Amino acid sequence: MIAAPGAGKGTQAVGIARHFGVPHIATGDLLRDHVARDTRLGREVQHYLDRGELVPDDVVLKMVRAALEAARGVGYVLDGIPRTLDQARALYEIGVELDMTADVALHLQVQDEELLRRLLARAEGQGRSDDTADVIRRRLGLYYAVTHPILDWYGERGILVSVDGMLPADEVGRQVLTALEVLRQTTEGDPDAPRRPVDLSGLDTAFGA
Ligand code: AP5
Repeated sequence: MIAAPGAGKGTQAVGIARHFGVPHIATGDLLRDHVARDTRLGREVQHYLDRGELVPDDVVLKMVRAALEAARGVGYVLDGIPRTLDQARALYEIGVELDMTADVALHLQVQDEELLRRLLARAEGQGRSDDTADVIRRRLGLYYAVTHPILDWYGERGILVSVDGMLPADEVGRQVLTALEVLRQTTEGDPDAPRRPVDLSGLDTAFGA
């Protein structure tokens, strides 16, 4: 899943993981868990999370490799990684090595004002250390600078699926699962068949919503 902070990656990843019976591997959750348990790794990464900066690649890639190895033969939903083209390439190499490269790169499109609204609303309830106006702006800036450009790379590979993430969460979930189910039917016979990106983000405009 590749989308801006607050776009709904975590929300949708839970539903996808439940639907397909695969683990939800969320780098942010794994890192926050280390911080909460006050492990050595948690102490090392806390200041990156608090400031909304990226944790070094070797740390996240090592964590994700272990999670992917555990998910071998089952499948997975990755949430929060890749965040840079270097991470995307490294993940691809790990995927090739473990024979589990991604079938789909899912992008949720959400406007900045809505991202800010959601994250500030969450700040009131959950108090995540990086949900302050300043840190949210830094996270968003970083997203547009280094994460958003990866979408082109997945588009060229033909595995990009874009969905309108502005809709209510359950409606986004329905569109996501519909797209993933259809893709599963079309690729099951020949996983290496050429693919083209799928863009569902304009569906509602077509019906006047
Ligand atoms: P991470 O935990 O990945 O945070 P993020 O990308 O900022 O994403 P969020 O969890 O804020 O948002 P989300 O898109 O998951 O949306 P959610 O479903 O929660 O990363 C945190 C930090 O860890 C990074 O800043 C970095 O320091 C480090 N890190 C993580 N991965 C890394 C990596 N690969 N490399 C280096 N560093 C890394 O929804 C947000 C809110 O909106 C919720 O309240 C939800 O209820 C609500 N909501 C969701 N969908 C909708 C909807 N459709 N309508 C209305 N509200 C909605």
